[in-house]
Amino acid sequence: MSNKIDVVLGLQWGDEGKGKIVDVLAGRYPVVARFQGGPNAGHSLQFDGKTFVARSIPSGIFREGSKNIIGSGVVLDPIEFRQECSDVAAMGVDPVAKIAISKKASLILPTHRLLDAAFEAAAGKGKIGSTLRGIGPTYTDKISRHGLRVGDILAPDFKERFDKLKFKHIQQLKDLNYDCDPSAEEADWMSAVEFLRKFLLVDCEYYVEDLLKEGPILAEGAQGSLLDIDHGSYPFVTSSSTTVGGTCTGLGVAPSKIGKVYGIFKAYCTRVGSGPFPTELFDETGEKIRSIGHEYGAVTGRPRRCGWLDLVALKYTVLLDGVTDLIMMKADCLDSFDTVKVCTSYRVDGKETDRLPFDLSAGVEPVYTEFPGWKTDMTGIRSEEDFPEAFRNYISFMEEYLGVPISIISLGPDRNATIER
Ligand code: IMO
Ligand code: MG
Repeated sequence: MSNKIDVVLGLQWGDEGKGKIVDVLAGRYPVVARFQGGPNAGHSLQFDGKTFVARSIPSGIFREGSKNIIGSGVVLDPIEFRQECSDVAAMGVDPVAKIAISKKASLILPTHRLLDAAFEAAAGKGKIGSTLRGIGPTYTDKISRHGLRVGDILAPDFKERFDKLKFKHIQQLKDLNYDCDPSAEEADWMSAVEFLRKFLLVDCEYYVEDLLKEGPILAEGAQGSLLDIDHGSYPFVTSSSTTVGGTCTGLGVAPSKIGKVYGIFKAYCTRVGSGPFPTELFDETGEKIRSIGHEYGAVTGRPRRCGWLDLVALKYTVLLDGVTDLIMMKADCLDSFDTVKVCTSYRVDGKETDRLPFDLSAGVEPVYTEFPGWKTDMTGIRSEEDFPEAFRNYISFMEEYLGVPISIISLGPDRNATIER
């Protein structure tokens, strides 16, 4: 049987714990690949008492002998990437030996970041709450066919092409009346581009094809399916395809090459940035979840909005992604709750439905099913047999509702706190 690409996807609004799971699973995959997004991601890995937040670098980087690919669908900021590489090197791993970058990945320019900030400032109340990493403007240039790609740095006229794009951005920044120095970071950026030349720059589709002959590949999604450009809570989304199709377009592989689809979700919901969030809690319960779950942005430090698990939204993303295996994170954060709620339908215009409406922000009222809390410290549990009865009932209910087994349950940030069923 030929090797496949298994995919790890966040099923909510990001921050589900993809970094931890990719790091755990990466022991079984010689290759880990990012296929979309950029340094808006913040994937936290914790092992041997150390913590690392992966932003553009795949979360397989610390596994011995692993190869790591930054795929064609990714937007790469050379300055951020160089910094991340130096953090990796400080932890004793040589990034140059372990990372290959697709020539077709897009480059984030310093002016893309300025534009991100300028658009957000101009949007006022309607702002997306972007991570201000230049993600939206970079993908905009890609789609409008003006962008620069990693492979372009090898072209003799790279500087002219850079200047042309920069000039266009300066015009846009002027139109937005955004006060900034568009050249401030240019010299540093150019030196970071030189740094990129140290890496293996590949034709991603052929590279992946060759590696697949040797073993399976793990594709690491960034953000979450509800932030998908086509299927998420538009316009409060990111600018890439965060759902399973993004793996094919982002790496240059056919759908028939996709194997398992691991869908990750937290036992509650969080969201950073603006946009609809039907089960959001504004009371002390939300505050309690935030504090126990340490729900603050790994990249931006922003407090995350918190709420109960939304099974209507989760069923939608399970459908979108063709999830074969569910992975549940952070149920231990609910250990002390007397009652645990999950949203099992929405009331929209007086009617109950278990489907996501076109506009999630307009009068969607969550309908909850309540479970008695398990009131047990589960953080030390390493085997399914030790699950409290109330927790067992809770997960069985979820598996039935979603129609997909929960194959992995994570009860803490460390590699070891992972129970496979
Ligand atoms: P990981 O991979 C959570 C959110 C931002 C904002 C919206 C658009 O760690 O799960 P962008 O900078 O992409 O234009 O912002 O998307 N967002 C994330 N939220 N986790 C992420 O990544 C995110 N990446 C972007 O907060 O609401
Ligand atoms: Mg994050």
